[in-house]
Amino acid sequence: MNLILLGPPGAGKGTQARRLEDARGLVQLSTGDMLRAMVKEGGPLGQQAKEIMDAGKLMPDDLMVSMIGERIEKPDVKNGFILDGFPRTVAQAEALDTMLAQKGLKLDHVIEMKVDDAALVERITGRYTCAKCGKGYHDVFETPKVAGVCDACGSTEFKRRADDNAETVKTRLEQYHAQTAPILPYYRDRGVLKTVDGMAEIDEVSRQIEAIIG
Ligand code: AP5
Repeated sequence: MNLILLGPPGAGKGTQARRLEDARGLVQLSTGDMLRAMVKEGGPLGQQAKEIMDAGKLMPDDLMVSMIGERIEKPDVKNGFILDGFPRTVAQAEALDTMLAQKGLKLDHVIEMKVDDAALVERITGRYTCAKCGKGYHDVFETPKVAGVCDACGSTEFKRRADDNAETVKTRLEQYHAQTAPILPYYRDRGVLKTVDGMAEIDEVSRQIEAIIG
């Protein structure tokens, strides 16, 4: 099964993608995570990515399309994937269609996670992850069972993203409404778009997604 989780920054795409990985054996393909790995490696492209991401702007389409194109060639995606953060423009959506058609693959569901802009700022500024295994948490909505200790790996070190601040979130939201939201009618016209209430609690959002994918 191949899915896209679509939604604004902080909608819960990564949270739900990781749950689907665990529950369904699908592979999460997060372009944001790929770019952060590129930044960590350094080099001129990593530096360029850091500047664009820290400003809350979008990376060039051709780079993102080739990044995903290379990734879906890898053998681990053969049982299905969840795209998280891609496509983000109509040009990326069109390139994805071409890429999938060439590989004989299809999209089963595109799931829009609908969340009010006001809630997103609180979600993003409260988000942090385990520095060792990457498990995601939130200051209020998703805390570790034992304070300061990662549920998954026991590490006591956590980190926050450089672009998770109120100023950058504003630009990221503007980019979403201007560049990414136009993808919704693109998929609606193709009959694959479903919407879940991303304002609901995390478990309830998972239930709504499960009901769609069956
Ligand atoms: P990316 O890493 O993709 O960031 P994003 O789309 O802004 O999305 P987030 O990761 O911030 O949010 P999310 O929806 O995954 O929410 P999460 O589950 O963590 O992209 C970063 C940057 O990379 C972009 O700005 C751009 O520069 C670049 N980029 C990436 N892809 C690109 C592309 N294709 N083209 C061009 N540029 C690209 O949840 C957020 C928090 O809320 C968490 O703490 C979580 O615990 C909590 N939470 C989740 N669900 C709920 C709920 N239902 N109720 C309460 N709290 C919740």
